[in-house]
Amino acid sequence: MTHVVVENCIKCKYTDCVDVCPVDCFREGPNMLVIDPDECIDCAVCVPECPANAIFAEEDLPSDQLAFIKINAELTPKFKSITKRKAALPDADEWNGTPGKLKDLER
Ligand code: F3S
Repeated sequence: MTHVVVENCIKCKYTDCVDVCPVDCFREGPNMLVIDPDECIDCAVCVPECPANAIFAEEDLPSDQLAFIKINAELTPKFKSITKRKAALPDADEWNGTPGKLKDLER
């Protein structure tokens, strides 16, 4: 099992999650982070850190977010490792909670 970053991270990318990960399993793309499913140890410490509530245990994923299991796995090798928190994207607070952001995911 793994934890999964879901749609609400897109265009927000707060990165609070990165600082608490004990195994550095986050990977950074232009406007979203994903979790490397092979590195994640399911500790769950990142879940309450995300201001966008965008991280779930795989077994707790809302049904409309199941596609993100595959998206996290597919983008892990394409995205770069991130191990330190950085500034969120400029309009993060405006995009937080906006539905339908999958079309905006930059791969
Ligand atoms: Fe994304 Fe939340 Fe981390 S918005 S970058 S999963 S803190």
